[in-house]
Amino acid sequence: MSADLIVVGSGLFGLTIAERAANDLGLRVALIDRRNHIGGNAYSENDPATGIEVHRYGAHLFHTSNERVWEYVNRFTTFTNYVHKVYTSHAGEVYPMPVNLGTINQFFRAAYSPAEARALIAEQAAELGDKTPENFVEKGISLIGRPLYEAFIKHYTAKQWQTDPEQLEASIISRLPVRYTYDNRYFNDTHEGLPTQGYTAWLERMADHPLIDVRLGTDYFDTSQEINRDTVRGNVPVVYTGPVDRYFDYSEGELGWRTIDLEEEVLPIEDFQGTSVMNYPDADVPYTRIHEFRHFHPERDYTKDATIIMREYSRFAGRDDEPYYPINTDADRSGLLKYRDQAKAEPKVLFGGRLGTYKYLDMHMAIGSALSMFDNKIKPHFAEGAPLE
Ligand code: FDA
Repeated sequence: MSADLIVVGSGLFGLTIAERAANDLGLRVALIDRRNHIGGNAYSENDPATGIEVHRYGAHLFHTSNERVWEYVNRFTTFTNYVHKVYTSHAGEVYPMPVNLGTINQFFRAAYSPAEARALIAEQAAELGDKTPENFVEKGISLIGRPLYEAFIKHYTAKQWQTDPEQLEASIISRLPVRYTYDNRYFNDTHEGLPTQGYTAWLERMADHPLIDVRLGTDYFDTSQEINRDTVRGNVPVVYTGPVDRYFDYSEGELGWRTIDLEEEVLPIEDFQGTSVMNYPDADVPYTRIHEFRHFHPERDYTKDATIIMREYSRFAGRDDEPYYPINTDADRSGLLKYRDQAKAEPKVLFGGRLGTYKYLDMHMAIGSALSMFDNKIKPHFAEGAPLE
C-alpha cells in the first residue's frame, strides 16, 4: 500500500494520529514501530503462566480531567473503577502517600488536627529562614520541613537520580504535595480507571482500521526497510514520535534521559504486599518501588496460587537504553532549542509525543496533544491544502 501519511511510532500519540487520519479523513496511513508490538510504553500483556496482566514498561494508570480525551478514549475501551493509592515503606513502617494527615500523624505519633499539622509543617519548613534554597535538599526542606523530607524524599530522589541530592538543582522540584486531610488518592483528576480488557485490547482497537497498515519491527532509520527516513524524506507527510535527537543524527549532542530497569518475579503466593505500588524511600534498599500487578484488577478472578511483582530501579540512560524521563539540564534545554529549529525546517515532518518533543507526557496528555496536532495541522493540510508546518 502506498501511504498518504506515515506515522513513526505506535505509542498513544502515533495511534491517535493514525486513527483520526484514517477515520476522519479517509487517509491511508502506514504506522511503523521498531518494536514488535504496538502501543509504545503503554503496552501490556497477560503473563502466559498466571494470566496476570503485566505492564511491560512500568505501571500505567489512566487518569484525566480533559473531557475531550475522556470521550475519545471511551470509544475504544471502558474503564474499571480502580482508584490509585500508593504506600511507602520507611524504617520498618508503612505510611500512606502522598504525604497527608495520616502520614503526618503516624510519623510524629500524634493526633494533630488539620490546623495543628499545617502549623507544625510550616514551622519545620521555616528552618532556612529567608535564605533562597540553593539545591534540592534546601528546596525540599523549605517545602515540607526536614523530618518529612529526610524520611520520604531525600534518599528516594537520590536513588531516582543516582546523585547526592546536595548536587541536584533546586528546580527539580517546585512543589511537594502535602494534604491536610486523610485523602490519599494519588491522582486528583475527574476520571480515573484501568482499561477493562487491558491496555493491549484498547490500543489494538485504535489501530483496527482497513486504512491503517501497521508495520512492526520497522526502524525508521533502517535503510533496508521500504519505509525509512532516506526514502520518505520530503516525499510523504510524516508524524515522527521517536527521539528528536536521533532524527537529526545527534548533530546537536544527545539529550539526557533517565531510564528504569524492571526486575520481574513470579511468587508462589496469593498476595505479596496487599497493594499495587509500594515505595521504598530508604537508602539501604536499592530499588525505588515494587509493583504487584494483581492489585490493579481486583475485579478479575486471578489465580490464588501465584502473584507477579516488579522491582523498579532507576538510572541514567545510555544511547541503547529506553529513554523514559527527560533530565532537562541547561545543556539539554539549549540542545532542544536547536533541534526545534531543525525540526521547523524539516519538510513535511511533524514532531510529536514524549520522545519527539523531549517532554514527559502522561497518556492523557499525549492523546490530547495528538488530537490538537490533528485539528490544527494535519486536517487543514489534507482538507484545505494548508502547508504542513
Ligand atoms: P511512546 O514512547 O509510548 O511511543 C513511542 C514509540 O515510538 C515507541 O513504541 C517506539 O518503539 C517508537 N519508535 C521510537 N523510535 C522509532 C524509530 N526509529 N522507528 C520506529 N519506531 C520508533 N502515563 C500515564 O498517564 N499514567 C502512568 O501511570 C504512566 N506511567 C508511566 C511509567 C513509565 C515508566 C513511563 C516511561 C511512562 C509512563 N506514562 C504514564 C507515560 C506514557 O507512557 C506516555 O504518555 C506515552 O508513552 C506517550 O506516548 P508516546 O506515543 O508519546 O510515546
